[in-house]
Amino acid sequence: MPLIRYGGRVLDLAAGSGRHSRLLLASSYTVIAVDRDISALFPLAGRGCEVLKIDLEAGEAWPLGTGYDGIVVTNYLHRPLLPAIGQALGAGGVLIYETFACGNERFGRPHNLDFLLRPGELLDAFAMLTIVAFEQGEVSVPRPAVIQRIAAVAGPLGSLPDPVELDMGQSEG
Ligand SMILES: C[S@@+](CC[C@H](N)C(=O)[O-])C[C@H]1O[C@@H](n2cnc3c(N)ncnc32)[C@H](O)[C@@H]1O
Repeated sequence: MPLIRYGGRVLDLAAGSGRHSRLLLASSYTVIAVDRDISALFPLAGRGCEVLKIDLEAGEAWPLGTGYDGIVVTNYLHRPLLPAIGQALGAGGVLIYETFACGNERFGRPHNLDFLLRPGELLDAFAMLTIVAFEQGEVSVPRPAVIQRIAAVAGPLGSLPDPVELDMGQSEG
C-alpha cells in the first residue's frame, strides 16, 4: 500500500465488507468502494469515500473510468475485467491483486476453476504493468488456501517503500 501515491484515489473493487476501504481511508487515501452488495459499505460513504453499487459482471463496458492511483482487488475474479483493470490505472498507479488459485479446491471454496487463477495468470494478465512483487502458493493464514498475488505499477520502476520494522520479541539485557 505505501507504493500508492500519498492521498491518491484508490478503487477497491468488489470491496465486500470494506476491510480494505477502511484501511485505505485510515491511511489518508480517497476511496471508491464498489460492490454489487453495498450493505456493509454504506456506513463508509461520505467524505473521502464514494460507495458505488455496480454489478461488475453485467457485461457492460467498464463503468469506473480511469486514472486511479491505486486499485485493490482481493478474493474476487471475473476474467473479462482484467484488461480494463490494468488500463484504469493512471501513470504511476499501483495494482494490488490477490485471490485464490488452482489447488485451492483441496481446501474448500472457491473450487470452481472460473474463480481460480492458473499458475502465473496475474503475471500474464498484467504484463503491460511493471511487476513489483508476485507470489503464488499455499498459505496457512488466515486459513489454508492456495493464492496468487501481485503488486504492479503502471510505468517504470520506482522506489520501493522502506522496510517495516518488525518487533521480533527480543528483550534487551
Ligand atoms: C469474497 S468477497 C471479497 C470482498 C473483499 N474484496 C475482501 O477481500 O474482503 C467477494 C465480493 O465480490 C462481490 N461480487 C461478486 N460478484 C460481483 C459482481 N458481479 N459485481 C460486483 N461485485 C461482486 C461480492 O458481493 C463480494 O462482496
